[in-house]
Amino acid sequence: MITKYAVVGVGVRALGMYIEPLVKNFQDVAELVALCDQNSLRAQVANKRLGFELPIYTDFDEMLDKEEIDKVIVTTKDCFHHKYIIRALERGKDVISEKPMTIDAEKCRQILDAEKRTGRKVTVTFNYRFTPYTTKIKELLSQDFLGKIFSVDFHWYLDTRHGADYYRRWHAELENSGGLYVHKATHHFDLVNWFLGQEPRRVFAMAKLNFYGANRAEHGERCLTCKFKDKCEFYLDLNGDSSLKELYLDTEAADGYVRDQCVFGERINIYDTMSTLVNYSGGTQLCYSLHSYTPFEGWRMALNGEKGRLEISNAETFYRKNSPDFKERSAILTAQDPYKAALGIDKEEESDLIRFYPLYGGVEVIEVPRVRGGHGGSDERLQNMLFRGYSEDPLGHMADSWAGAMSLLIGAASNLSVKTGQPVDILDLIK
Ligand SMILES: NC(=O)c1ccc[n+]([C@@H]2O[C@H](COP(=O)([O-])OP(=O)(O)OC[C@H]3O[C@@H](n4cnc5c(N)ncnc54)[C@H](O)[C@@H]3O)[C@@H](O)[C@H]2O)c1
Repeated sequence: MITKYAVVGVGVRALGMYIEPLVKNFQDVAELVALCDQNSLRAQVANKRLGFELPIYTDFDEMLDKEEIDKVIVTTKDCFHHKYIIRALERGKDVISEKPMTIDAEKCRQILDAEKRTGRKVTVTFNYRFTPYTTKIKELLSQDFLGKIFSVDFHWYLDTRHGADYYRRWHAELENSGGLYVHKATHHFDLVNWFLGQEPRRVFAMAKLNFYGANRAEHGERCLTCKFKDKCEFYLDLNGDSSLKELYLDTEAADGYVRDQCVFGERINIYDTMSTLVNYSGGTQLCYSLHSYTPFEGWRMALNGEKGRLEISNAETFYRKNSPDFKERSAILTAQDPYKAALGIDKEEESDLIRFYPLYGGVEVIEVPRVRGGHGGSDERLQNMLFRGYSEDPLGHMADSWAGAMSLLIGAASNLSVKTGQPVDILDLIK
């Protein structure tokens, strides 16, 4: 049977994760029938890249009226996910939503209500669950490897290339993305929720905007016209990147989407330094942090349990050398830790390690080979389950709306806690 899909929100994620793969790799089970975006010029770029003309709509209802569609894939700006998810459910369609499912508790409640009311289904695509490394961790924990888990430390680092990019776009405004506490940390909170098999209950958070935002006396509105471009470490040349130029600069006139806004702009109202404590339904405590201006990118996690401690360290990318030039910095990424290079170990990481320290001594090292592909090979594994279907999912990789809610609500509760200085009870948010 062929399932018919439509995509709403035709940006970089939609193109790479859904539009091109659906057309190129899944023709035997799927048909992409239409695209919808408020900017039809950007949707035309998709057609150009595909090499044929899919129908393009700016009106979502008109698309649903005119096309035969089984499932809608929602990949717009985060703050509009709820609008399209709810409308699609009401029109009898199942929905695949990119993370975060939505950005705050009110919109989350509306989605959960609509799903219940319509009997249709929302799937949230948490691709990080699908890497070989996270899959192995889940497998171990589901075999009761650590016994009861008392606490988790989880720390995520975004570098001055990928991390900075959030401050150039719509993500930099809380009302668009819920900030990185929701937009980015929804991945991380979902991983912890999934690993533990528990639900978050109480949240307390502190956060600040330290590095980006209105911290520099000298700055412009955007890189394209900035008079400080020769000396700024964050100068992004849209004309020098054919893909960004085609998707954003050349389509800018239609909706005013400026892809290279200044990372030191006054409009920025999200945090770049975030800490959160979470209490779980099974008694586990999480200590979480997210920084978006570190010299390398990756994450570290430790789980402390009855039987010992599991240590996870996943360094994804480093810069080969210290470079204040953004373009050069972006071009010299490596999987090799410069610290290891300094020790004379001349090799990029080919596998990730899980270290298990039993409670009374010794260590056991579990090696998980790295896989190439989008987000550590996770995107391709997720696509296979999404589009080919699955009869078994023993570790529960596929996430539903409740999982979407439980992860985004930790972020929403963190935002609230930072504002009020008080702890927030998750269930109070969606009563
Ligand atoms: N899972 C992942 O690893 C991952 C990675 C990147 C992005 N994402 C998610 O994918 C989604 C898209 O991200 P992106 O980086 O492609 O963003 P983007 O800004 O490149 O694309 C968003 C698209 O949505 C369109 N759009 C915005 N508001 C709209 C509206 N009201 N109606 C119709 N179209 C609208 C824009 O015109 C644009 O084409 C986001 O929800 C993001 O969180 C997930």
